[in-house]
Amino acid sequence: MKNSIQLKDLTFKRFISEEKINERILALANQINTDYADKAPVFLPILNGSFMFASDLIKQVSLACQVSFVKVSSYAGTQSTGQLKTLIGHEDSLFNQDVIIVEDIVDTGFTLQLIVNDLKSRGAKSVETVSLLRKQKAREKEVEVKYVGFELDEQFVVGYGLDYDGLGRNLKDIYEQLD
Ligand code: IMP
Repeated sequence: MKNSIQLKDLTFKRFISEEKINERILALANQINTDYADKAPVFLPILNGSFMFASDLIKQVSLACQVSFVKVSSYAGTQSTGQLKTLIGHEDSLFNQDVIIVEDIVDTGFTLQLIVNDLKSRGAKSVETVSLLRKQKAREKEVEVKYVGFELDEQFVVGYGLDYDGLGRNLKDIYEQLD
């Protein structure tokens, strides 16, 4: 297990170990098992970043639940803003469902806000979020993250599903960028 790695032009050092991640995931899953004891939630992991986290988290969930991976794509229209995005990949109705969004990291909260609004407009009964990581900026946003694995400051991180320019998703630990 390496303490520092190089991805393209950037150097990263080990920040959160695989053991710590697993320990925290177990606590998050236990909390979800308790909170949703009488429910059958639908987990919606957001690709690509959350694939590893979602897999390890949902393995520890003992509820009757569904899992459907989704992606946020740029709006394929002629809007000039370039800001409009849409949720793709989920075909079944979410009407009256208890939805749990699974995110890798919430940075500004912009992406999450968009997803929450989309799900509410589809008539979901409840929408909550579990995110492995949350950056400081996101705390100022109106969007609530009910279950947070680790709080970060501003640093850029890779590993355990998170990438830098497409690389680093396969790393077992989480690494932070060195200045
Ligand atoms: P937000 O809309 O600013 O909250 O951005 C969330 C998305 O940006 C995440 O789902 C990640 O794909 C990406 N992102 C934000 N911070 C990082 C980071 O430190 N490392 C890797 N990806 C990040």
